[in-house]
Amino acid sequence: MTTGQVTGKDVPQKELRGGRSSSKERVDLEEAYLQMARTLALAVEAREPHAHGHSERVALLATEIAIELDCPRELIREIQLAARLHDIGKIAIPDHVLFKPGRLTPAEFSEIKRHPTVAVEILRCLDHFHDIIPLIESHHEWYSGEGYPNKLKGEEIPLGARILAVADAYDAMTCPRPYRRRLSNEETAQVLRDEAGRQWDAGVVDAVLRVLERESKMLQALLVET
Ligand SMILES: [Fe+2]
Repeated sequence: MTTGQVTGKDVPQKELRGGRSSSKERVDLEEAYLQMARTLALAVEAREPHAHGHSERVALLATEIAIELDCPRELIREIQLAARLHDIGKIAIPDHVLFKPGRLTPAEFSEIKRHPTVAVEILRCLDHFHDIIPLIESHHEWYSGEGYPNKLKGEEIPLGARILAVADAYDAMTCPRPYRRRLSNEETAQVLRDEAGRQWDAGVVDAVLRVLERESKMLQALLVET
């Protein structure tokens, strides 16, 4: 980060959604797109009851990680929008694959792996979402190059996508699924540490662990006070 660059720490959350322009029209338009993204996310999550609230929680944690990493406010705005829409491509995945309680066959997993590309096809129609398409397309890429859909590696993966990947994984692991129990915060932190540098960017993992540690201390302090 260069000296003098405006970061997420310098601006209130509401202003983050305003992008570079401070004009009321721009803020209103930005808010309208954010509302649209939330609505689309709710529509996708309505098909998948155990996913309810997933996109909002991913957006919240991804924002905290981005602020922890001193990301510029424009990138934070893109991450907030992309988080709401990251799984919109699941709309094209058939029920028998998306809701299968057991292990997926290779063919079924190939179906699931289409969802980032389907999202690109859907969002391409709207100019406003142009900048967030690479974040959504790459949220299942692995730092090692073993992810999908394009097997991008390391910093070839946009930083916003590396942040989304960690926030997405954290929320998935800490929520129960029909085929597995939820992991505890400690177990989740251990998985993140174990896979740092392979599945996820180690710097982003360090940042989320700092965020979670801070939140856990704040919670402890609140519990002591009450
Ligand atoms: Fe996804």
